Amino acid sequence: MRTYSFSEYQNAADVIKSRISILPEIGLVLGSGLGKLADKVEGAEPGTAPVIIDYKDIPGWPLSTVFGHKGRLVIGKLGGRNVIVQQGRTHFYEGYSMQEVTFAVRVMKLLGVGSLVVTNAAGGVNVFFHAGDVMLIKDHIGLVGMAGNNPLCGPNMDEFGTRFPDMSQAYDREYGKMAKEAAIKNNIDLKEGTYCWLSGPSFETPAEVRMLRSWGVDAVGMSTAPEVIVARHCGMRVLGISGITNKNSDNGEAQTTHEEVMEAANIIGPKIIVILNEVLPKL
Ligand code: HPA
Repeated sequence: MRTYSFSEYQNAADVIKSRISILPEIGLVLGSGLGKLADKVEGAEPGTAPVIIDYKDIPGWPLSTVFGHKGRLVIGKLGGRNVIVQQGRTHFYEGYSMQEVTFAVRVMKLLGVGSLVVTNAAGGVNVFFHAGDVMLIKDHIGLVGMAGNNPLCGPNMDEFGTRFPDMSQAYDREYGKMAKEAAIKNNIDLKEGTYCWLSGPSFETPAEVRMLRSWGVDAVGMSTAPEVIVARHCGMRVLGISGITNKNSDNGEAQTTHEEVMEAANIIGPKIIVILNEVLPKL
């Protein structure tokens, strides 16, 4: 299983630092089909292009194998803030260790990032959710982590945080309030709810959907919670937004496909851009 030493995180951060002129304050992780958000990033000077670094050029960085995930960092200005955008993430189901899945978060921390915005494509478990909706993540159930694959398993890296980090407010309440205000101001119907992290890659059976609903889950996906756990461990504040790309069937009458997920992401992307434009300057 691939794990990292502190100096490996530092090496990656140093390689990135050598390519940029301003250090990022906010990290953004873009989910399936939401990569277009990165097109809005500008360079350090108005009208210039952002710095783009392919993951393959950063030592230790795991490469995403999923269609719809680009595999690069876009570093520059968005909403007046210095940002580092992770365009494409790696998932547990690709065969990566949890340390690889969360590598980026710790590298961002070493670059000075204090706030993390995580987005994802998610299935709607809440019966009132529809494809194309956006949901503020208020809390998560880290099912894969609870079942023994928590990204913080193994020796604690004290340089980043404490052995037993608190998760009582994993998603920053103030950031959530800002996102809700931004949505209201721009006539976006921002849902809110609990996200459940499942390993995937198979989508859920109807019985699993009924089980998740009974647990109070509103949306399901195959990412995000591990990054949030690692971000909170090292003291970052987190804003999480899910794009609901499909409705999960509780009776087997509707199928879920990756194509459907990617298509809905095209409707969701612009809504998330509007919310972030409003919120980023305030984070
Ligand atoms: N289930 C799990 N992950 C997902 C889904 C889903 O229905 N849609 C997008 N990501």
